[in-house]
Amino acid sequence: METLWESRFALRTQRMTSSLIRELLKLTQRPEIISFAGGLPAAEYFPVDRFQEACQRVLATQAHLALQYSPTEGYQPLREMIAEHLSHYNICVGAENVLITSGSQQALSLIGALLINPGDHVLVEQPTYLGALQAFSAYQAEYVGVPTDSQGICVDQLPAALRHGPKFMYILPNFQNPAGVTISAERRARLIALAHQQGVPIVEDDPYGQLRFEGEHLKPLVVEDVEQSGNNGTCYTGNVIYVSTFSKTLAPGLRTAWIVAAPPVINKLVQLKQGADLHSSTFTQMVIYEVAKDGFINEHVRKLRQVYRQRRDTMLAALDRYMPSEARWTQPEGGLFLWMHLPPGTSVWTLFEEAVRRDVAFVPGDAFFTVPNPPPTARLNFSCMPEDAIVEGIRRLSDAIKDVQAKAVPAPAP
Ligand SMILES: Cc1ncc(COP(=O)(O)O)c(C=O)c1O
Repeated sequence: METLWESRFALRTQRMTSSLIRELLKLTQRPEIISFAGGLPAAEYFPVDRFQEACQRVLATQAHLALQYSPTEGYQPLREMIAEHLSHYNICVGAENVLITSGSQQALSLIGALLINPGDHVLVEQPTYLGALQAFSAYQAEYVGVPTDSQGICVDQLPAALRHGPKFMYILPNFQNPAGVTISAERRARLIALAHQQGVPIVEDDPYGQLRFEGEHLKPLVVEDVEQSGNNGTCYTGNVIYVSTFSKTLAPGLRTAWIVAAPPVINKLVQLKQGADLHSSTFTQMVIYEVAKDGFINEHVRKLRQVYRQRRDTMLAALDRYMPSEARWTQPEGGLFLWMHLPPGTSVWTLFEEAVRRDVAFVPGDAFFTVPNPPPTARLNFSCMPEDAIVEGIRRLSDAIKDVQAKAVPAPAP
């Protein structure tokens, strides 16, 4: 029965559902479960001592500042540190281009509020990050999907997709969540050229770019944008909104991330953020600055790359060893995820139930598509389980796949 509250909910809430991943995570939090489902960094590598020292230092020396309200744009030394980081790619970004947000999830939500009118189209990769779909759907976005392959988004299909007149393109350039693929240098250049030609802005979501295990670091789209427009003044004024986060390089519980964009975009986002939460936690931002400074974050990221690379290799070797021959998977060069194409005809949800029964969990790939009935796929996270659990989990998952295949009713003869 509809309660008084339901009749009062705004129309835009009607299409909102709780994120499938959050619901799955609840289900898979039983301690005995080997979970490849979440996007969790390895908790045992959080730099706890460095955080302890930083908290003490901030409280001992700057408590009055740290515990007070502060500017919406963010803690100035942290903004400057982020701008300085981008200057390593030879582009001029000033602190005025940087807005600190409460996680990149808030960044996506603010960007949705800034750009999306009900019914506007957003161009997304297929598959794409579920949290972005959730953020944009809150503003009643419609989607235009473009497939991805091992080189990232299929740019040859972009011109046709752009004919739908999307308000912006939402692109994950590195070790994409969920598919683990990276957009090649040639495709990045072509993507920006098309964006310029058609006057369509890009939201570049890059939480994993620092976590490259091998191969060449590729230029972010925001850099490609500056290079192609030849517009490299002292402040970024281009058509890309770049989003990144401390969630995967330090710790997600900090809920601290950032947006880099042209000043008029930052100014509007600041107004939206004032309405959302006034500003991100002053104390947390100051602690992050203290933790990250003097090159510590780079040193820490180097360690994470080694750990995650090892776990990825363990997962790839276990997949090779145990999976049935019809299954295929991506070979990510970094990040936290790989993507499995399950044997054709596998019912992903039956498999999910069967896997959880064997105490192993993954995310069914359907969740990341904006079209119905995509091919059967699964997202597997390799960052947060120790290596012996990875091997055992993949063994159980392959048993579950074989079981589901054996029980599947054969398709009727034509
Ligand atoms: C592509 C992508 N964007 C955004 C986020 C949200 O990150 P944050 O913890 O900064 O809110 C995630 C988290 O997994 C992600 O994978």
